[in-house]
Amino acid sequence: MTQDTRLRTNINKEIEELKPWFHNLHLPDSTQTAPDHWLGDFPMFKWKELSPFIPQDLSGWKVLDVGCNAGFYTFELAKRGADVLGIDVDTHYLKQAEWAAEKMGLQKKTRFKQMQVYDLAKEKENFDLIWFMGVLYHLRYPMLAMDILAEKNSDMMVFQTLSMPGKEAETDTWDRPINEREDLLKDGWPKMAFIEHKFSGDPTNWWLPNHAGIEAMLRSCGYKITGRPGHEIYIARKDAENPSCLHTWNKSEYQSAIQEDWKAEVGNKIKK
Ligand SMILES: C[S@@+](CC[C@H](N)C(=O)[O-])C[C@H]1O[C@@H](n2cnc3c(N)ncnc32)[C@H](O)[C@@H]1O
Repeated sequence: MTQDTRLRTNINKEIEELKPWFHNLHLPDSTQTAPDHWLGDFPMFKWKELSPFIPQDLSGWKVLDVGCNAGFYTFELAKRGADVLGIDVDTHYLKQAEWAAEKMGLQKKTRFKQMQVYDLAKEKENFDLIWFMGVLYHLRYPMLAMDILAEKNSDMMVFQTLSMPGKEAETDTWDRPINEREDLLKDGWPKMAFIEHKFSGDPTNWWLPNHAGIEAMLRSCGYKITGRPGHEIYIARKDAENPSCLHTWNKSEYQSAIQEDWKAEVGNKIKK
């Protein structure tokens, strides 16, 4: 057995031991972690759609990959020079990511932490780019997660979610009298379908927004949509002209949800 064959046999054995894989990672020796993935070469085919929308040189960028899984995107962004923190609730996937970081020689550019997306509210770090793909629909509290992430993000978000069918988006959603509700039934009104039981056999799928709903949520968190690389994928940048509703309306609700002392702030305002 040659040295190369022996190394390849060892890697294949380790891949087998780390199963099941959701990300088909392409390792430097050209081994793949899930070459028979039911979605095809996933998520490489999504990355190919997306990558032209992301700066080639990410040197100096701090990036957060939410729900990083085995780290496919974490590694691609680190290869462009970014320092990437990947978070996930599932230690099985984090173990895969840590193993792969070593195989790719990317340990210095990547960190992995077991975290709930909501735990980020207590973190001090800020990120130039937040990668938020494939997670929103798994959350029972999607707007809370969006608000937390927007507060930690100084520039760009890459967003993807399972969504309801349709491409329509009403342009006038400003206000309606209390008894005029028909417009809410229009295809282009921002909406989310609530999944009480399961979707695609998965009980962790809670909410599927429509296209108008995705754009409206992003705007409501202070973003403008600057790119649509593919189906259900949105590039958003912080919009200086349109701050998040947190800063114009209901900060105390947010503070209460993240267990911050909101009464002190409201109390101070009242005293003034
Ligand atoms: C559908 S996979 C998407 C993986 C990757 N982001 C992608 O787009 O290929 C969802 C990932 O999010 C993680 N996840 C689900 N709920 C989460 C939560 N509340 N906080 C952090 N990660 C979560 C899951 O463990 C899983 O790895």
